[in-house]
Amino acid sequence: MAFGKLGQALTVREIFDLIQDDLRLIETEIGLESIASVEAITTIGQYLQASGGKRLRPSLLLLAAKMAGDTGPSAIRLGAVVEMIHTATLVHDDVIDAAETRRGRPSTNAKWGNHVSVLGGDWLYMQAFQIALRERSFHILDLLISLTQAMVEGELLQLERIGKIGVTEADYMELVDRKTASLFSVCTKLGALVGGGDSNVEERLGEFGWNLGMAFQLIDDVLDFTSREKTLGKPVGGDLREGKVTLPLIYALGEATVAERGKIETILRDRNYNAVPLRDVLAIVEKYHGFKRVEERAQAFTDKARRMINEFPESSYQRALYAITELVTDRDH
Ligand code: IPE
Ligand code: IPE
Ligand code: MG
Ligand code: MG
Repeated sequence: MAFGKLGQALTVREIFDLIQDDLRLIETEIGLESIASVEAITTIGQYLQASGGKRLRPSLLLLAAKMAGDTGPSAIRLGAVVEMIHTATLVHDDVIDAAETRRGRPSTNAKWGNHVSVLGGDWLYMQAFQIALRERSFHILDLLISLTQAMVEGELLQLERIGKIGVTEADYMELVDRKTASLFSVCTKLGALVGGGDSNVEERLGEFGWNLGMAFQLIDDVLDFTSREKTLGKPVGGDLREGKVTLPLIYALGEATVAERGKIETILRDRNYNAVPLRDVLAIVEKYHGFKRVEERAQAFTDKARRMINEFPESSYQRALYAITELVTDRDH
């Protein structure tokens, strides 16, 4: 595919170069908007901002906006909004999962406790909406509120399924849609909107973002098993230890023997790898080609995203969005 070659020609550096000035403005915006009259909030806000993160969501918003037409202060503000919503979900998620590390550092709950983290997350959500309100657009508020509700519902559904071995592929896909793809989709939709794209452009870019988000989470769930703690910034095998049965395991469990299934049940019951080491789980998943099958499934979502982006006229931003799809599937963290 001709565009594939062009896409590959764009490196991470080149993608970043296209948006680095705007990304810097977004960082400034987040910094300014994370100051509260209560010091605890400001401290947490600064800690989170300094802890890194790939800034994938504002990058998608910016590139979509630039491809659709123009960018201005709205793209900067909304870039800050989506990153702040993402951060708030991570803060709450780490409380729910009792996670100790995030981005290679102690999680907010580990550092300040659950109570402060829940309130800090709430504050961040509301601050994000406060910024979004400045756009004076009901459509934008509608997108962001529906999104946040879908994400919270996703966390609740996930909670109901914790520790359950019988999670189906359809259950899993619904969770991924809510947890990750919906936010990616809103990022590209908002980009289309502020870039001056019509509703058709918004729909198509939204579908691009959605497919990319699905691929992103599928790969994330493979990496949770196969990566290294140093690269991940959190312990390997964390999903299963937290009682989450993700797609590589769902595929393997579909064919596993009674004894293999028993091992997984033990971990789901114990919530640790003391009786059954992680390498046994890896061996079971490998035996039934669980990782390979998930990677293929992720590739199908990526291919769909590429087809969506290839329908747009060629430009450096269009190529960058294409190249981002490669980053998502080839990443190590
Ligand atoms: C983490 O998202 C949560 C998931 C959807 C898997 P990222 O991997 O984009 O997190 P940061 O912002 O780069 O840390
Ligand atoms: C991340 O979910 C939070 C959201 C995407 C809402 P997970 O619990 O699956 O991801 P990590 O492993 O903590 O990043
Ligand atoms: Mg988590
Ligand atoms: Mg995870």
